[in-house]
Amino acid sequence: MSTGLLKGKKGIIFGALNNMSIAWKVAEKAHEEGAEFVLTNAPIALRMGEINELAKQTGSELVPADATSDEDLNNLIEKSMEILGGKLDFILHSIGMSPNVRKGKEYTAPNYDWYHKTLDISAISLHRTLNAAYKLDAMNDWGSIVALTYIAAQRVFPDYNDMADAKALLESITRNFGYQFGIKNKVRVNTISQSPTMTTAGSGVKGFTEFVSFAEAMSPLGNASAEGCADYCVSMFSDLTKFVTMQNLFHDGGFSFTGVSHGVIEKFKVDE
Ligand code: NAI
Repeated sequence: MSTGLLKGKKGIIFGALNNMSIAWKVAEKAHEEGAEFVLTNAPIALRMGEINELAKQTGSELVPADATSDEDLNNLIEKSMEILGGKLDFILHSIGMSPNVRKGKEYTAPNYDWYHKTLDISAISLHRTLNAAYKLDAMNDWGSIVALTYIAAQRVFPDYNDMADAKALLESITRNFGYQFGIKNKVRVNTISQSPTMTTAGSGVKGFTEFVSFAEAMSPLGNASAEGCADYCVSMFSDLTKFVTMQNLFHDGGFSFTGVSHGVIEKFKVDE
């Protein structure tokens, strides 16, 4: 049910690849809540074509941008302001990719060129995006920028590999740039730390299906869905969360603060 929470708000949504993508769900919800936005993804992802369907469904234009290219990002932000007829109120950064994960390299034996790529695509791209928006003065006062992250930034999940380091950097950039953007024009910058979710990026991680079941058993509310994450993003883009900034916000059904659950203990029960 729409409440028009984002009526009049304009933004950019990165990272909708297919209808499993968290960004896809965010675009659907934001549209439902009255927002207007530009959709973007890497040129190669746009060529895959599924995003055209989302653009049609939400009445949005598509602007390609490789999030590791400053030129592409400047162009994206300038074009978006042209298309939307003014400055932006929100940006969703929903980007992650590790060549080491993709190609099955262990954390202890990475290809370091790929390690750099992981950091550039999955974390420094947020710095580049924030910087482009900052320099072009593209954000309205009290705007909101959200990036998606995972708890492997704080705790060890061995098969998350170099993405764990990328997420730690992403969360650090959120705090440090959040300070600068808050001072500049009251723009808030936060990360949302989402439960494991069956998407293209998620299912690339080794043992992901088992891990989803483990997280489910460890979360008092169960794993948070992609749709639930979209609701949270929409609330973060709205005026109801104006003073929340520089935070890492767990959206994980309670996983992050559960030491152990009865469900998990049950699995280790020994007959006496
Ligand atoms: P997804 O695979 O649907 O989205 C990842 C997106 O990153 C894709 O659209 C891809 O085209 C884009 N991308 C990759 N390289 C790019 C580049 N150079 N420039 C621009 N875009 C690029 O998967 P998902 O799960 O929706 O991922 C979205 C975000 O959520 C990522 O940051 C991911 O790490 C995060 N996340 C995902 C979780 C999961 O279990 N699926 C859990 C917690 C966080």
